[in-house]
Amino acid sequence: MSKNKLRSGIAGVGMYVPDKTVTNAELEKIVETSDEWIQSRTGIKERHIASTEQAASDLGVIAAKQALANAKISPSEVDLIIVATATSDMQFPSTACIIQAALGLNDVPAFDVTAGCAGFIYGLSIGSQFIENGTYENVLVIGTEVLSKITNWTDRETCVLLADGAGAVVLRPALPGYGLLALRLGADGSGGKHLLMPAGGSRMPVTSEAIEKNLNTLHMNGHEVFKFAMKKLPEAVEQVLMAAQIDKNEVALVIPHQANRRIIEAAARNLEMPIEKFMINLDRYGNTSSASIPIALYEALENYLIKPGDNIVLVGFGAGLTWGAVAMRWGM
Ligand code: ACO
Repeated sequence: MSKNKLRSGIAGVGMYVPDKTVTNAELEKIVETSDEWIQSRTGIKERHIASTEQAASDLGVIAAKQALANAKISPSEVDLIIVATATSDMQFPSTACIIQAALGLNDVPAFDVTAGCAGFIYGLSIGSQFIENGTYENVLVIGTEVLSKITNWTDRETCVLLADGAGAVVLRPALPGYGLLALRLGADGSGGKHLLMPAGGSRMPVTSEAIEKNLNTLHMNGHEVFKFAMKKLPEAVEQVLMAAQIDKNEVALVIPHQANRRIIEAAARNLEMPIEKFMINLDRYGNTSSASIPIALYEALENYLIKPGDNIVLVGFGAGLTWGAVAMRWGM
């Protein structure tokens, strides 16, 4: 690790969740489930659900504006926009381009990243390269999802998990010794069949038959995804810490993708780290896919769980199957 290497740091964070909350008790009225089952099997108590008018870009723009304000950067200073999402407004143009226009940033490059719930880590990793090689100074990375619009509300195994929200960060060159220290990304495409939306692409366009069979909604093999997450989450943390040459004891906070409390608790046990070192806010937000890590980061900062000089790890896993982790020393 070169001491003089230019690194990217997070200069500002923003988040947005829709006003409407849906409790487990409300889900009991829709599918055969119970508050007790959902809380004990997932840790989720409630989640935010978008209005019928809200699309991923609408949530993302609000989170982005807050991240820019926190970074004390005007939108006109943004050099690049990267959006991680599995629920883009439409197939094309990209949600990043829609957000670019909404921010009034004509000519600024913008593109989407599709890496499921690891999307934000992928986006952060890509954005960092542009900072570190000196191409750009201010990169906006957004994770935004309206999963409620691809949820099969008759499938009790998935509808109790999925939720809506957005988080955003502004990446800038960091002071020496701070910022992104190491990253690790991975994918296992052979596991793609365990978490997918079958219809809506060129393989299976949306037809009335596809709609009838709910193929334009999220399908998940919960057991397989669970097993995959249990293995990859601790592995990715261990690998990125090794690459950053940081001991587990020197980590102030791990911010994992918020899928299931049991997955996070198992990772803590596996890594022999105290659960208090893992940020968990899925009880109030459910699984917001690529938005969950920046939302959790925002709340960790709001609650003074991170201070300058702290080593933190961000780690995601999801559809693809994909995973990724980033180790950072907080501060600019
Ligand atoms: N309410 C009540 N009962 C339920 C519910 C529900 N909501 N969902 C499933 N059950 C039942 C099952 O039908 C099963 O009943 P059976 O024993 O009669 O067959 C029983 O509960 C146990 O089911 P399991 O699947 O064994 O439950 P498990 O403890 O594994 O939990 C869960 C299921 C929560 C889905 C878990 O497998 C999980 O968290 N998987 C990973 C999910 C994930 O992280 N997905 C990725 C994110 S999605 C995305 O990418 C946006």
